[in-house]
Parts: sequence; structure tokens; C-alpha cells
Amino acid sequence: MTTFKLVMPGDLNHYGFLFGGKMLMWVDEAAWMAVSNDFPGQHFVTVGMSEVRFKKSVHPKSVLRFESERTRIGNTSVTYHMDVFSRPIDIAAEELVFHTDITFVRVDGAGNKIPVR
Ligand SMILES: CC(C)(COP(=O)(O)OP(=O)(O)OC[C@H]1O[C@@H](n2cnc3c(N)ncnc32)[C@H](O)[C@@H]1OP(=O)(O)O)[C@@H](O)C(=O)NCCC(=O)NCCS
Repeated sequence: MTTFKLVMPGDLNHYGFLFGGKMLMWVDEAAWMAVSNDFPGQHFVTVGMSEVRFKKSVHPKSVLRFESERTRIGNTSVTYHMDVFSRPIDIAAEELVFHTDITFVRVDGAGNKIPVR
């Protein structure tokens, strides 16, 4: 699944670049939309991310592209690989700024893990 985000002034840290916590929130959100789309009617919570490394600073006024690809279906969990690309709005080229593997667990209404269907 592909989703996009426009970096706004309120998303920046005190140095004027994207705040890393925002990136993690958007990665979680984009991947959650992918798992919810792939498994409609089932409820998922995030259980973990693999390596979290910010490879490049994200400049203000950038458009981010989130590319999630499902890489594993387990018993109760599903894993997605996520690449995030950044493109400053006045530049044509984009670059990879972040990647991780993010895993969700299917839960019932009480928050207990249950097998993925
Ligand atoms: C998600 C939750 C229900 C899992 O319950 P649990 O008893 O701890 O689960 P387990 O340790 O048996 O792991 C369940 C699955 O997650 C996988 N898993 C656990 N930790 C993982 C990690 N760090 N990375 C990737 N996968 C992980 C396990 O391999 C297992 O997969 P499988 O069933 O497909 O083989 C529970 O940990 C929980 O409620 N966590 C909070 C979730 C949440 O609130 N997320 C939002 C963040 S604020």
C-alpha cells in the first residue's frame, strides 16, 4: 500500500527538521492501514518494530511516501516492511529516509491475541 504525508511546520523539531516521533507515528499509522485493508473486519495492535534508524534528515516542506509490503503472516501476527521516501516540494528527486519491519497482532475485543484468519 502507498500513502503520502505532507510535512507541516508543526511536525518539525527545534532544529527545523522533521521530529522523529512524528515519523514513527506516521509509519505505525500507514502500516496499520495496510493490515486493516488486507484483513478487513479484524482488529490489530502494534507489537513491535525492527531496527529504528533515521537515515537522513527530512527537510521542512517535504512530501513523504510510505510504501508498505506484507512480508510474513504468522499465527497471531502479521509483518510489513515499510520504506519511507522524502521529496522536498521544489525538487523532483526523492530519497529513502527510513525503513523498518513492523509487526501487528490480531486481538479480540478484550485485547487478547487470537489467530489471524
Ligand atoms: C500484542 C499483545 C496482545 C501480544 O500478546 P503477547 O502474549 O505478549 O504475545 P506473544 O509474545 O505470544 O506474541 C504474539 C505474536 O507477536 C509476535 N511478536 C511478539 N513480539 C514481537 C516483536 N517485538 N516483534 C515482532 N513480532 C513480535 C510473536 O512472534 C507472536 O507471533 P505469532 O503468533 O504470529 O507467532 C500484547 O503484547 C499487547 O497487548 N501489547 C500492547 C499492544 C499495544 O497497545 N500497541 C500499541 C502501542 S502503544
